[in-house]
Amino acid sequence: MSGELSPIDKAKYVAAKRAAEFVEDGMRVGLGTGSTAAWLVRCLGEKVREEGMRFKGIPTSARTAELAREVGIEVISLDEARWLDLTIDGADEFDANLALVKGGGGALLQEKIVATASDQMVVIADAAKEVEHLGHFPLPVEVIPFGWPTTQALIEETLISMDVMGRQTTLRMNGDRPYITDEGNHILDLHLQRIGNARQLALVLNQIPGVVENGLFIDICDTVVIGYGDGRVETRDINAGTVQETQLDFVEDDNLFRDI
Ligand code: 5RP
Repeated sequence: MSGELSPIDKAKYVAAKRAAEFVEDGMRVGLGTGSTAAWLVRCLGEKVREEGMRFKGIPTSARTAELAREVGIEVISLDEARWLDLTIDGADEFDANLALVKGGGGALLQEKIVATASDQMVVIADAAKEVEHLGHFPLPVEVIPFGWPTTQALIEETLISMDVMGRQTTLRMNGDRPYITDEGNHILDLHLQRIGNARQLALVLNQIPGVVENGLFIDICDTVVIGYGDGRVETRDINAGTVQETQLDFVEDDNLFRDI
């Protein structure tokens, strides 16, 4: 079955499988959103079913909550958890300082709240997500629907004085309607090409009325687990300054591949 996976899916899978080792019995764990995070949820579900592992999962979106329940993970809300031991999530881009662009899957608001409420954030990604400068991937900004074109105009005006290469912004669509987040908001994608000062941009964007949150995660991520299509996994810990390499095998009869 695993032979049918593309190299990119194999990379996501091995990153997720390695990161699942960070989860210990009794933890409260933030579960990210997106295709890489979905692999993580499946890997953790397998640990619950096969190894009897017990932990509480705090999902960052309705779709992650649904998948987590489906695979047997005990799901609780952030209100119940209050503070988390660990969050594991994907990213659209990460740089050498583990600054991230997130929100390609539209869940950046819950993802940022949950990751910030965690003692540790681990990002899982395929190697293509590593960049020298953030910004090639359009930066998602969650905005409230009320007056969104005004908010968009304010963002574009603000971008004039920011250290970015592009300034085009687009409303994310779902077919012929604006995309709606789990919180009932819209997303503006900022096509910046290159972000010179991500910290400053993140602060300035959040000052604009109508902006709920932006997809820049600065000083939140502690560890990145990078997967490769051949099963290699690199784990970089920014605080310890360590890099570990592991080789994972694809198990042909792995239950995880049953529904793929
Ligand atoms: C969702 C996210 C995702 O983590 C990000 O888009 C990466 O997704 P994928 O793992 O599918 O590449 O931020 O809001």
